[in-house]
Amino acid sequence: MKILVLNGPNINMLGIREPELYGKETYASLVRKISDYCAEKGVEAAFFQSNHEGALVDEIQKALGVFDAIVMNPAAYTHTSVALLDALKAVKIPCVEVHISDVSSREDFRQVSFVRSACFKTVSGLGTDGYLRAVDAIIELLGEEK
Ligand code: DQA
Repeated sequence: MKILVLNGPNINMLGIREPELYGKETYASLVRKISDYCAEKGVEAAFFQSNHEGALVDEIQKALGVFDAIVMNPAAYTHTSVALLDALKAVKIPCVEVHISDVSSREDFRQVSFVRSACFKTVSGLGTDGYLRAVDAIIELLGEEK
């Protein structure tokens, strides 16, 4: 099974940005943590982070026929991006929406997710472990053998 882990704007600043909300782990160590977990589970993982909406749309489009599932933290684009929603709907690749912080207990504008309706699950507020729970959900959905 091949999964694509997509991260949106400012996730490259993990460890520096608002550590009280997002923790002290860096993006590099997040990638290592997810890679190690996927290796344990026999899942192949690829990673992409961008601060640009169109670049994320491009990656979702390129995932068609290549990846079995997507784990995506669209970050701020969660709350604004019809383009990411449309890209997910276009490729129809099963996707889990991940948020490090608990968006449901934050500002009103974070209560809206444009991508949620194209995702089969949302994981929020579990810190970076949320990415691992997203991998678990994909394994459960698609089965270990894929
Ligand atoms: C986030 C939550 C978003 O509201 C915010 O814009 C982010 C990160 C999270 O992981 O908790 O950049 O997606």
